[in-house]
Amino acid sequence: MEAQTSETLRDRVALVTGASSGQGRAFALGLARAGARVFAVARREELLRSLVTGICDSGGDAAYHVADVRSVPAVFDLVDVVLARYRRIDILINAAGIGFRAPFAELKRSEIEEMLATDLAGAIYLTQAALSSLVKSAPSDVVNVASIAGLEGFAEGSVYCAVKHGLVGFTRALAQELKPDGVRVTALCSGSVDTEFFDRFRPTTERSLRLTPEDVVSVLLAVLTSPPHVLFGEVVVRPRVVRS
Ligand SMILES: NC(=O)c1ccc[n+]([C@@H]2O[C@H](COP(=O)([O-])OP(=O)(O)OC[C@H]3O[C@@H](n4cnc5c(N)ncnc54)[C@H](OP(=O)(O)O)[C@@H]3O)[C@@H](O)[C@H]2O)c1
Repeated sequence: MEAQTSETLRDRVALVTGASSGQGRAFALGLARAGARVFAVARREELLRSLVTGICDSGGDAAYHVADVRSVPAVFDLVDVVLARYRRIDILINAAGIGFRAPFAELKRSEIEEMLATDLAGAIYLTQAALSSLVKSAPSDVVNVASIAGLEGFAEGSVYCAVKHGLVGFTRALAQELKPDGVRVTALCSGSVDTEFFDRFRPTTERSLRLTPEDVVSVLLAVLTSPPHVLFGEVVVRPRVVRS
């Protein structure tokens, strides 16, 4: 498994947003361990720098760029920066995201706008900006980090569910459109994962029942190392209770 993972991903260039913490950081580390070259993006520079230093100190290849995915020009600039460094993009992971959970009447306009601009518009514009590079390096992958909230609705998650449903719809349609180009588009739909996300999002499950970011890394690597003709569409991963 390790050998297959390494061979499939070796030297592939992976652009990972949301790489400063949580799942995006774990994806960056997992991809680097599998031999990919990682370009990490988020707003908190210190965290990106320590991630990249750690990868490079372990013999990997990584770089970072500070960008706010809510800014459309910044998203297009970011692709220019990746191409200046690595000349190609083989894998795009749209993991930058934020969620606020509250009764709909109490959601602030700033929170609604931040979710729409980060989780949905940010992923859409970055995918568009990276598209010609992804087509050039096909077979290539786009993985949109959606959520169970993209497949189901739950109380006090109205706008978060709306943006993640939007991301799943975007993924489904784009997956069909880009099939002939050899670009596989997948939505990763996980249940609760134990990350900083819950600093802002009022939890729906208790902490002991959450997945770890590493659990989701194994799912991501399974998608990325599957044969290029395999299309998952949505991958759903949830915690399960294991009785001892
Ligand atoms: N945790 C869960 O239970 C769960 C479940 C399913 C799906 N998800 C989704 O998984 C993704 C990753 O979340 P996480 O659980 O890993 O939480 P997290 O630790 O809070 O990570 C969120 C990441 O997004 C980045 N980010 C947020 N706003 C950004 C912006 N405007 N521009 C650039 N980067 C931005 C953050 O970096 P900076 O703050 O440094 O910019 C951070 O790296 C999100 O899309 C989330 O919706 C989470």
